[in-house]
Amino acid sequence: MSTDLLTIARDVALQAGALAKQRRSEGVEVAASKSSPVDIVTEADRETERLIRSLLAEARPDDGFFGEESDATSSTSGLHWIVDPIDGTVNFLYGIPHYAVSIAVVEGEPDPLTWRALAGCVTNPVSGEIYTASDAGGAFSGNQQLRVAEPASLAQSLIGTGFSYDAGTRADQGAVVAALLPLVRDIRRFGTASLDLCAVATGRLNGYFERGLKPWDHAAAALVAQEAGASVVGLGGAPASGEFLLAAPHELASALERELAKLVG
Ligand code: IPD
Ligand code: CA
Ligand code: CA
Repeated sequence: MSTDLLTIARDVALQAGALAKQRRSEGVEVAASKSSPVDIVTEADRETERLIRSLLAEARPDDGFFGEESDATSSTSGLHWIVDPIDGTVNFLYGIPHYAVSIAVVEGEPDPLTWRALAGCVTNPVSGEIYTASDAGGAFSGNQQLRVAEPASLAQSLIGTGFSYDAGTRADQGAVVAALLPLVRDIRRFGTASLDLCAVATGRLNGYFERGLKPWDHAAAALVAQEAGASVVGLGGAPASGEFLLAAPHELASALERELAKLVG
């Protein structure tokens, strides 16, 4: 079952990635802003989501849909597809070749606190990287099984993070990064949450954390990270959610969580 779902997620993500890449090559403009003036959407985000939606409706007509750029549809099968048509939209807008299509299928409602992620695919159509995972089926980049980095101390760890589109939240996030920076090897802000989580899965990052993610940012990639051996958690024993998500190999996750719990208000 998960294998069929994974095949669908992967096929649809690849078609969507090809469309996004094509639209990027034709030139991209901001179509509207959303939660703040810097939270933008392009026509390509909308068109890519329309394509994903129609392909999924054709393949899985009874499943629900929960995507960033259009209204949700409820499910009669118990499954929902969680979709970010272009994750890393600001990179996409600026022509930075680091953006992704993210598609996951979950059992239950589109709520990370209660869903069970069954399968997911994240692809960067520019680099051609395709990350996939299924529940208890492992995480892969193409045919290569993924495994998180070897254990490292916090001081030797490269940590990824991201920032909200809300100016007030950003100010707090900046203060957290300033306090964490002297404690770690270095910090990266690549601009695409799903690829950050996949970077934990490949060992390109030791760990990653972010406050304020939306379900479509992490549904697929958190499964990739988890299946590669990462702990994906919240703060203070809470599960990972939109409030806070941290991903790293187990021991580093504990060390990072301890520091972040002191810093995050
Ligand atoms: C954003 C990116 C970014 C993260 C933000 C997300 P979008 O998604 O993943 O890296 O820091 O929290 O909202 O807007 O490019 O789909
Ligand atoms: Ca996103
Ligand atoms: Ca997006």
